[in-house]
Amino acid sequence: MAVEWQEEWAFGDDRIDAEHISLIMQVNRIAVLIDHGADKATLSALVQTLLRSAEDHFTYEEDLMAATDYHDAADHCDAHQRLLCSARLIASSLLTNHEVTEADNIGKYLEGWLVMHIEKEDALFSTFLAGIDNTEVIENMLA
Ligand SMILES: [Fe+2]
Ligand SMILES: [Fe+2]
Repeated sequence: MAVEWQEEWAFGDDRIDAEHISLIMQVNRIAVLIDHGADKATLSALVQTLLRSAEDHFTYEEDLMAATDYHDAADHCDAHQRLLCSARLIASSLLTNHEVTEADNIGKYLEGWLVMHIEKEDALFSTFLAGIDNTEVIENMLA
């Protein structure tokens, strides 16, 4: 079951929304390949690509948190680190002892991994940004 983009997840920042959609598409692709019995090396490579995309995305969010002096930045950054850590464990476990049959749970886990973060920590940050004038901050980050 693929994750479908929900309008209520819209963050209000074009780059963050585009990256969230890209991350969801990558997770969906991994889930489809798991359903089609893809081998562990292929899945591990895709999870590692997902990891690189997530790292870039989290760095942008964290730069934006620093630039706006976001009060919950430490907790949000901790959540990012936990997400990266668990995805790294999945990528490496796919290359070691796990049976492919266990990969089905990995697809579901990654779906929850991403959606829960978008709905919780990212939504809180989005609400914070909506309450401040960050036009200048964004312009400076893009300069
Ligand atoms: Fe995010
Ligand atoms: Fe985040």
